[in-house]
Amino acid sequence: MVERRTHNCGELRAAHAGSKVVVQGWAHAIRDRGGVTFLILRDRHGQVQVTLDERSPEAARQLAKDVRLEFVVQASGVCTPRDAAAVNAKMETGEIEVVADEIEILSTTQPLPFAIHEHGSDAHEETRLKYRYLDLRRPALQANLVARHRACLAARTVLDDLGFLEIETPILTRATPEGARDYLVPSRVHHGQWYALPQSPQIFKQILMVAGMDRYFQICRCFRDEDLRADRQPEFSQIDLEMSFPTQDMVIEAAEAVIRAIWKKVLGVELGPIGRMTYREAMDRFGVDAPDLRFGMELCDLAGVLGGTDFVPVRSALDAGGIVKGFVVKGGAEVSRKGLDAWTTFVRSYRLGGLLWGKVAEGEITGPLGKAVSDVPAFLAATGAAVGDLVLVGAGAKNHVNAGLGRLRVHVAKERGLVGEGFAFAWVVDFPSFEYDEDAGRWFACHHPFTKPKDRDLAAMAEGRLGEVEADAYDLVCNGLEVGGGSIRIHRSDLQQQVFEALGIGPEEQRAKFGFLLDALSFGAPPHGGLAFGLDRIVMLLTGAESIRDVIAFPKTTSAQDIMSDAPSVVDPAQLAELAVRNVES
Ligand code: AMO
Repeated sequence: MVERRTHNCGELRAAHAGSKVVVQGWAHAIRDRGGVTFLILRDRHGQVQVTLDERSPEAARQLAKDVRLEFVVQASGVCTPRDAAAVNAKMETGEIEVVADEIEILSTTQPLPFAIHEHGSDAHEETRLKYRYLDLRRPALQANLVARHRACLAARTVLDDLGFLEIETPILTRATPEGARDYLVPSRVHHGQWYALPQSPQIFKQILMVAGMDRYFQICRCFRDEDLRADRQPEFSQIDLEMSFPTQDMVIEAAEAVIRAIWKKVLGVELGPIGRMTYREAMDRFGVDAPDLRFGMELCDLAGVLGGTDFVPVRSALDAGGIVKGFVVKGGAEVSRKGLDAWTTFVRSYRLGGLLWGKVAEGEITGPLGKAVSDVPAFLAATGAAVGDLVLVGAGAKNHVNAGLGRLRVHVAKERGLVGEGFAFAWVVDFPSFEYDEDAGRWFACHHPFTKPKDRDLAAMAEGRLGEVEADAYDLVCNGLEVGGGSIRIHRSDLQQQVFEALGIGPEEQRAKFGFLLDALSFGAPPHGGLAFGLDRIVMLLTGAESIRDVIAFPKTTSAQDIMSDAPSVVDPAQLAELAVRNVES
């Protein structure tokens, strides 16, 4: 019979000694010593030792022998101080034990597919995801979900204090372009028509500003059918906010208040001031727009010092309008050929043709880079390299060099253990409005098409010089992760149409896809702006989780499957018929 629990497994202390208690939990460890049974019961709150010895009735002692790992057990008895020698300082309840009068097995288990260890598990991730409920019993994963809960609580409280209202927006909606593919849902009532799951509540939150809601927030689910990585899920959560009549600084202040409140509540950490750098500076110094600022190894432009070379890889890159940049690995001269080859393969995956490396010896640079360096002292002055260092250089198209070297910088720092502790936050501001996609051969919105170009750049946009247009757009980055992003929006219908036009979205398409937004903007829309944080990424930072899957209760695999419930799955042909949808053999 289930009795009323008096204490959870983590709360008994010496002060409870002498009380009669009832505890329930999973058998986490079982030890039998000379007829005495120690059961360690575990629940989300902690672990407690239940002892069955000569002080316990014989029936309870016998039953204890049947308990197996992960059985669910109820124990009633007296909370008793342990002998000094038996006190376990590593256990929060380690000063006491529950000397059982009675135990009851509430639930048994079939053989476990893997052991439930404290932190990790040797089992393959697929197995752990299939039995997610078992993996989630691990204290480390439970702690991640607790951190997530507390982060949401902190965000809600501070946003409420700042006058933001939590308002839900639809899940069955029409496509919002955030740059990924949509998940589509067929309509049963309107055959041939489809809802899209929101990639974000972007347009709805803007319309809430037109509706006079003044300040909105939502902790919401977003859906994006895109290539998955360690920090991306097809279904993820945002802390999304929008405000009316904001300056960029006002949005940044509100967003920082959220981040500060979360770090304070979950980790007890007071974050210091968060600096700002422009997008251009981030790209120049780090090659990426979400720089990891926990270590140096900044990129330097070497066009000046190597500009006179005839060495083909550098010469041809510069002649083709490209760039040459590099960074110094302190004491890296000992890196093996194999190590350098691996780094070369690494940068090639970012479309950088190759890696020029040079080791600094007394008065000379050895390795392929040596062929490009004619003036060694000038090269050392430009890079800051010294004898015993390694210099890694990339030459080619600007975006390929930045992408390859920017990622390599982080890769090398991690490999060599150079990444420090803590949280290195920064705001990256002044993003370009538009970026040109070479493969697609057209311009895209760098953030999204609702972002307002800076007033000073409107003329450049009107003249088609899209590459020169910057936006009032900002990202918050931390430890190389884009934690959030937002912008001041376009609140005038005519400007919105101009931006659509610049992106090659003609009047008909504008009407068809965004007519409702253009209409709303033409009925007295207040200036507005906002931002969205990636909640999952915030929790990754708070908990140190390597994978986004470790901070989501029921995540998807990198091939967008839920192995536990076996989704996606085929559906009944009758259901398809009802939706007027047919599978096509591909
Ligand atoms: P954006 O697309 O930059 O902006 O998204 C905001 C933040 O959401 C997180 N994020 C993701 N997290 C996990 N998995 C994903 N697939 C994923 N994609 C994005 C990132 C990112 O910084 N509507 C705008 C916000 C605005 O302008 O207010 C938007 O969605 O941390």
